[in-house]
Amino acid sequence: ALKIVTIGGGSSYTPELIEGYILRKDELPIKEIWLVDIEAGKEKLEIVGAMAKRQVEAAGLDWEVHLTLDRFNALKDADFVTTQFRVGLLNARIKDERIPLSHGVLGQETNGAGGMFKAFRTIPIIGQIIADMKVQCPDAWLINFTNPAGMVTEAAIKHFGWKKTIGLCNVPIGHRKVAAEKLAIPEEELLFKFAGINHFHWHRVWDDKGAERTDEVIDMVYGPQKTEDENHLKNIHSAQFHYEQLKDLGLLPCGYHRYYYIEDEMLKHSIEEFEKGETRAQVVKATETRLFELYKDPALNYKPEELSQRGGTHYSDAACEVIASIQNDKRTDMVVSTANNGTIQDMPYDCVVEVSALITAHGAEPYNWGEMPSAARGLLQGMKAMEETVIRAAITGSYGAALQAFTINPLVPGGTTAKTLLDELLYAHKEHLPQF
Ligand code: NAD
Ligand code: G6P
Ligand code: MN
Repeated sequence: ALKIVTIGGGSSYTPELIEGYILRKDELPIKEIWLVDIEAGKEKLEIVGAMAKRQVEAAGLDWEVHLTLDRFNALKDADFVTTQFRVGLLNARIKDERIPLSHGVLGQETNGAGGMFKAFRTIPIIGQIIADMKVQCPDAWLINFTNPAGMVTEAAIKHFGWKKTIGLCNVPIGHRKVAAEKLAIPEEELLFKFAGINHFHWHRVWDDKGAERTDEVIDMVYGPQKTEDENHLKNIHSAQFHYEQLKDLGLLPCGYHRYYYIEDEMLKHSIEEFEKGETRAQVVKATETRLFELYKDPALNYKPEELSQRGGTHYSDAACEVIASIQNDKRTDMVVSTANNGTIQDMPYDCVVEVSALITAHGAEPYNWGEMPSAARGLLQGMKAMEETVIRAAITGSYGAALQAFTINPLVPGGTTAKTLLDELLYAHKEHLPQF
């Protein structure tokens, strides 16, 4: 029987996670689900935890759902540990977005200055969770969706030594659906290959006859045959990619590439949101309040439609599928953050990449990707070097490393801007950055 522990159980996404387990009840012999949170999230945990219990009961299942603030004891003999926590909650994200924008620099949850600070706050905590796991559940799998998911997963595997870690994101799921719809071919009949790093990956697609269809999808989604707005991500402004540039690249981009390929337009839009007091974190805070009002209703025992307003919709379901696939050696084809091991030839062997893989009983078995075209290779290597520097700063608390990361991040202008912004963010997030 399985014991699954979720760190950050008070998240508004928890009902989707529970729904995902219920949908897979025949594949998952669950006995206990433990939702772990901290004092600051206690009220959220109680509301969403009661909702989780109603969902399980309505499904006629006898699973135990436990709510606790005691992480160490909750982890005892866990089979799977999933992480969905946000250090400093949404108020910290508001600072990550608004402080850079007040300097005219992009502020975003996982990219640029904001993403680097989310890593600084989060990586030490994933280290503490792993230290507890080494004692309490040395054989457990760690399924991480805590952002920045790529860097957090790399820290878990490479620095804290938890090899049985898989990082997850929902972005590839949406891209698969869009391509299948455009080609009018069922998704299961297509072969997708994704490669890159979290929120910075590209993909190619082949049909069941073996013909590559990537170029046609570029035309249909971003080019002359474009019929509608293809952006499936609620949290990203739908600025238009430049078709000729994508065509030249020959790969499909991910939604987050907008911050790099059409940086000026994305920045302009973000500054407008900033001026209206409507950055994404501010909007999400209102959505979260509404969601928790719904969850308080003792009659509600299923995931409400309103949750699809969040950008992360589908990601908990992906987590459940990873667990089911490991548990049953299902070999489901999924896109995950995992050790490169030569999958992308242009990247270090021991770094974490986000790639298509079969999820087996021993974990992710990636599809070989090979080389990146030069137009993608340079950017990708630069982004990974920046990530490595962010992780080093997060673990050591080195100011020099943090300034280095800010200087080399493509979304932060180097020089005085980088230093002033770094100092301001370090001060604003002081309570969650004991290492600095
Ligand atoms: P949230 O603000 O609701 O936080 C979730 C919970 O984490 C809160 O209840 C909070 O109290 C708790 N928490 C904070 N610090 C903790 C700690 N040290 N230990 C245990 N719990 C702690 O966040 P959310 O909007 O639900 O998102 C949760 C996380 O998942 C974020 O990191 C977010 O970026 C990430 N996310 C990832 C994806 C993906 O594609 N991988 C998609 C959606 C969300
Ligand atoms: C996407 C990303 C997630 C991110 C989320 C933000 O789905 O894959 O990594 O956390 O959007 O959504 P939100 O509703 O919080 O802005
Ligand atoms: Mn993501």
